[in-house]
Amino acid sequence: MHQDGLRVEGVALAGIAARFGTPCYVYSRAALTAAYAGYRDALQAHGLADRSLICYAVKANSNLAILNLFARLGAGFDIVSAGELARVLAAGGSPEKIVFSGVGKSRAEMRAALEAGIHCFNVESASELDHLNEVAGSLGRRAPVSLRVNPDVDARTHPYISTGLKSAKFGVAIADAFDIYRRAASLPHIAVKGIDCHIGSQLLDPAPAAEAADKVLALVDRLAAAGIVLEHIDLGGGMGIQYRADEPAPATTDYLAPMLAKLAGRREKLVFEPGRSLVGNAGLLLTRVDVLKPGEEKHFAVVDAAMNDLMRPALYDAWHDIVKVGADDTATGAAMSYEIVGPVCESGDFLGHDRLLALREGDLLAILSAGAYGMAMASNYNTRPRAAEVMVDGGSVHLIRRREEIAELFALESVLP
Ligand code: LLP
Repeated sequence: MHQDGLRVEGVALAGIAARFGTPCYVYSRAALTAAYAGYRDALQAHGLADRSLICYAVKANSNLAILNLFARLGAGFDIVSAGELARVLAAGGSPEKIVFSGVGKSRAEMRAALEAGIHCFNVESASELDHLNEVAGSLGRRAPVSLRVNPDVDARTHPYISTGLKSAKFGVAIADAFDIYRRAASLPHIAVKGIDCHIGSQLLDPAPAAEAADKVLALVDRLAAAGIVLEHIDLGGGMGIQYRADEPAPATTDYLAPMLAKLAGRREKLVFEPGRSLVGNAGLLLTRVDVLKPGEEKHFAVVDAAMNDLMRPALYDAWHDIVKVGADDTATGAAMSYEIVGPVCESGDFLGHDRLLALREGDLLAILSAGAYGMAMASNYNTRPRAAEVMVDGGSVHLIRRREEIAELFALESVLP
């Protein structure tokens, strides 16, 4: 995202705060488009563009405007619930470009996806295969299926977002996959289409993904030798992004190259499920400093965004760069170290520790790299309305989700008679 602490694309952040209020998520259409182009170009460079489908992982940010933008760019979608299915369809996504992941799909969700006519179910257990066979049978259909295999590769990322080790709840052990494929091929309402694998998120080293691809390809070849010929290979998402100015992440082409090199010359179609890398650095969270609170040991800057708006710092101890908007340091005095915290009643409610900033009450801050797993994981904890979301498009700003109103937060509740 091109922002200098002052502007996104051609639009001043201070103007956005004045018009839409804070906290406010701000996305850049140009940055979203560029991130998608990064994948397309990398695939093109390996001669794979024509037989690949980039399925945006909706969970990273499911705003309709973002889904619609990716649909217009030709993307497919990786969904994990009936809710995400409904969103994608409402945003104009094509059902035949949807893959459905997740360890616990309900029968109702399976039915909805079959009726929509999705591209493929990424099945994560032998039991799920039986459920799907049953549901598809009741609709007189065959469900297109990939097995998500767990290649037992260490993705070397945060344990909460690492999914490819044997100990994880995800996928079927790669050692068991062959037998499950044979069973799948024998089920009347299952059509075996592909294979899927996703080893974790925020991966900065390309080696684990390439190692996983090797294991997957070996299984694909073994299955083919046994007469089970797959049409597509889904290598999941997981590419990491730069969160700290001083810790660069690899460019998309460089991250993907070792994996893509292994796919050259094969005949299967390819599917990818990137989430964070398509949206993370295309969004920031704009917040205002409400209170400066000097302490004996630490100085606090209490801002109007909190853990309910951006949960990643509290949940994963994740780092997001925080910059001042409209730096006017001459009037502000010297920078000092601040704990950037929200108003929520928890000690874990912080957005950044030990940030060197020159602040006055009323200043605006931009919390960067907040486009992925920001708004998507937001809650109403402390009965706080969720933030507004806007999209900058060149010189214009569009409201893509209005701020919630307090009355809406308890509108679904009722008291006893
Ligand atoms: N495919 C599957 C099956 C997944 O489980 C995920 C993410 C993705 C694709 C997309 O992965 P990505 O390209 O975004 O790394 N809330 C955490 C991240 C959780 C990731 C969950 N699965 C965070 O804020 O870091």
